[in-house]
Amino acid sequence: MKGKKPKDIKKTKVLVIHGPNLNLLGKREPDIYGRITLKEINRRINALAKELGLNVLIAQSNSESEIISHIQDKDYDILIINPAAFTHTSIAIRDAISSVGKPSIEVHLSNILRREDFRRKSFIAEVSLGQISGFGPNSYLLALRAAKDYLT
Ligand code: DQA
Repeated sequence: MKGKKPKDIKKTKVLVIHGPNLNLLGKREPDIYGRITLKEINRRINALAKELGLNVLIAQSNSESEIISHIQDKDYDILIINPAAFTHTSIAIRDAISSVGKPSIEVHLSNILRREDFRRKSFIAEVSLGQISGFGPNSYLLALRAAKDYLT
């Protein structure tokens, strides 16, 4: 889980993965997830990454297998992932994260501990540096700051 830290922060690559249904943000259950679109969240992530001097690569997928391929194949130093519903079901994504051995931060827009009981279980938390949950789009921005702090 705790991979090697890159020597030069300017060369640090952060992979951000958005899981299933997050492409619908803005329209999807706005009372829970708000009205901010994924495009806008990505814009904010890119802006903060620029300010922090990090290189960021962003992917969204509705497919468990595609998410696993990103985790295995992309070139990155640290992962920020909102696995969405796969958080609560996917041992395969959990194993992918622990198999590549790179540090990872779990993110959620909503506070998963304040919702239905089935959302209380996260298979991903067990292989993450930490979990940021409940701050809407700011959860990603807090994770980006935590990633930088972790790597420096
Ligand atoms: C979510 C929380 C999950 O329980 C849910 O399945 C999602 C989004 C969040 O960001 O709050 O799709 O990961």
